[in-house]
Amino acid sequence: MAPTHTPELFRAAVAQAAALLRAGEVVALPTETVYGLAANALDAAAVSRIFSVKGRPAHNPLIVHVADEAMARRCVKEWPDLADRLARAFWPGPLTVVLPRSAEIPDVVVAGGVTVAVRWPSHPVIQAVIRECGFPLAAPSANLSNRVSPTTAGHVLAQLGARIPLILDGGPCQVGIESTVLDLTAEPPRVLRPGMIHDQALAAVTGRLQSAGGADGPILKSPGLLPKHYAPRAPLRIWRWENDADLKRLVGNSGVVPARIQVIAHSRVPAPAGFARVSVIPHDAEAFARAIYAELHLADEHGVELVVVEALPDRPEWRAIADRLKRAAG
Ligand code: TXA
Ligand code: MG
Repeated sequence: MAPTHTPELFRAAVAQAAALLRAGEVVALPTETVYGLAANALDAAAVSRIFSVKGRPAHNPLIVHVADEAMARRCVKEWPDLADRLARAFWPGPLTVVLPRSAEIPDVVVAGGVTVAVRWPSHPVIQAVIRECGFPLAAPSANLSNRVSPTTAGHVLAQLGARIPLILDGGPCQVGIESTVLDLTAEPPRVLRPGMIHDQALAAVTGRLQSAGGADGPILKSPGLLPKHYAPRAPLRIWRWENDADLKRLVGNSGVVPARIQVIAHSRVPAPAGFARVSVIPHDAEAFARAIYAELHLADEHGVELVVVEALPDRPEWRAIADRLKRAAG
């Protein structure tokens, strides 16, 4: 694990990562959303290593990460005016756009499809690594397939430490959940995976927009978006309670003793009485997104039997988080 918190450490870590990536290796890197497991996007053999390290099915395509708009244009066949306007509004940042692929992108990256997903992340560490390499990086989240995405280098170490040569530690991720995936080959553009750049923000640029359907909408039709995803090992339930007595009744009905339950609350914070852990996250969508995966990783670490999350507000800025929790609940 390579730290990056001083200029010297940062430079050394970036150089080490770039050398491994040039040699066709995989490296775990921080992005502002979640940690990614990166390889040279133009090297089919390097990219196939990502799939074997993660145990990821070959039919699930990867996001290609770039460090400027020129690099994004090289990955795609055409760069429509709408892509330009979205890039100006949201890049670098947690938005991924899907466009027809260019001939430079190997089949393995896009799972043999005709489109490619492209994103310019804002985290300085991955930006510096891409610039040092001079080629784009294919990177899924750096977790084992179907597990919770990592938001710290420690999360990556716990799941993949034994399988990869290097993890760059860029601190905890600022956004905390995966990027919004927007398909620009659909008309109007279609949200395949909701993220913290929500429908209202996107529609301000795109005009018309096909929404992913919100927390209670239909299951999304992106190759990787299975109904059960992003899940901790223990079952997860989303409950609404008015007070401690109410919560106690729900716990009673669950058949799990409080000592084996982790409660994650944001507004009706219960007395800790008897629970394995009560996690309090501020009642604020950005703060909640930043913190939620770390809490789910803790649930795995402590081996609780049940994770209970307080139901979220039904507002645009909360919808992507509600989507992830719904998938974690299966
Ligand atoms: O925030 C993120 O997007 C993180 C960081 C590392 O950038 N990456 C990430 O990658 O979440 P991954 O592989 O865990 O999820 C990528 C999602 C999957 O649901 C995949 O199916 C979808 O994007 N995707 C990738 N390429 C696609 C394409 N050409 N068409 C439709 N969906 C695509
Ligand atoms: Mg993932």
